Amino acid sequence: MKKESSIENQLENFRKEEHSVMEEERILDGAETAEESSSDLEQALRPASLKEYIGQDELKHNLNVFIQAARSRNEVLDHVLLYGPPGLGKTTLAMIIANEMKGNLVTVSGPALQKSGDLAAVLSTLEAGDVLFIDEIHRLPRQIEEILYPAMEDFYLDIIVGKEGASAHSLRLALPPFTLVGATTRAGDLSAPLRDRFGIILPLHYYAKQDLERIVSRTAGILDVEMDEDAVSEVALRSRGTPRIANRLLRRIRDFAQVYNDGLITRQVAKDALNRLNVDELGLDTTDRRFLEGIIFRFKGGPVGLEALASSIGEDTATLSDMYEPYLLQIGLINRTPRGRVATAKAYEHLGVLPEELSGKGLPD
Ligand code: ADE
Repeated sequence: MKKESSIENQLENFRKEEHSVMEEERILDGAETAEESSSDLEQALRPASLKEYIGQDELKHNLNVFIQAARSRNEVLDHVLLYGPPGLGKTTLAMIIANEMKGNLVTVSGPALQKSGDLAAVLSTLEAGDVLFIDEIHRLPRQIEEILYPAMEDFYLDIIVGKEGASAHSLRLALPPFTLVGATTRAGDLSAPLRDRFGIILPLHYYAKQDLERIVSRTAGILDVEMDEDAVSEVALRSRGTPRIANRLLRRIRDFAQVYNDGLITRQVAKDALNRLNVDELGLDTTDRRFLEGIIFRFKGGPVGLEALASSIGEDTATLSDMYEPYLLQIGLINRTPRGRVATAKAYEHLGVLPEELSGKGLPD
């Protein structure tokens, strides 16, 4: 659609869409929705073992070695830090680690731990061999982080009892050996002392198309939907390297197939559904395209700082940097330079804009 429209139309659309996108639900958000985290079906889609887990081959291979070695020594696995964009499988891997190590999984989220007592309460429930999963670990308050250090290093917890002043004293509580699995989308935001206490640090990368195809086929099997090979490829292509998005798109496409095609997902059904969902051939949604249009139309292709860009398209900076920018960088639609973000030739081509057309056509306010 975009490719055929004139530059004037695009400028016009850019202005019109400006206020409407903010309320729009984002189907391509890698973050898990509340519905997904509580749905049995979603849980059934998660692989339960490393054998079943598709993709991330290097990570899987190394993790398997560490697990086998720890098990043969009868020890707990060293603490593990998983980092990478949302939706790539950090929570799934924490579950798999607990399964493979035959321990219970105890899950908490960094921002939910506000007082030192919150963490002490969780730590004191742990049994030997348990896996404590702290999601969004970069959002742990600093004073809580400090309680974690001795717990991670030497398996003990110092708790202060009594009121402040003379009667206050600390009590040392021994903890059973456990494995902490931390997950973060922002490894760089972790403090150095916390990062240094993880023996195993594993990055997750966007999935290759063949791996996503295998994941989509596996999910289609579990959902019991009939799907052509071409359709599988189309979904993989538009899932921005992210299994959670692939699975979410598949469920929506299944709805279209049920209503329009007796449940069978052909490539055409998949394409039509994805177009209706505003997911384009590269897997970009309205906000991704506005990100690119913002750089191109408002800032003449860049360079532009993320904050200026965010405010010009009405998004917040953290959302852009965590959810949108990594994939746009990955597929080469933008570059990061010391002076800010620039749109690449591929971005102009994708939006159907000729750079020459833009000269003198900055967007009027
Ligand atoms: N479902 C979501 N992610 C998966 C993965 N990496 N392997 C298998 N199934 C998945």
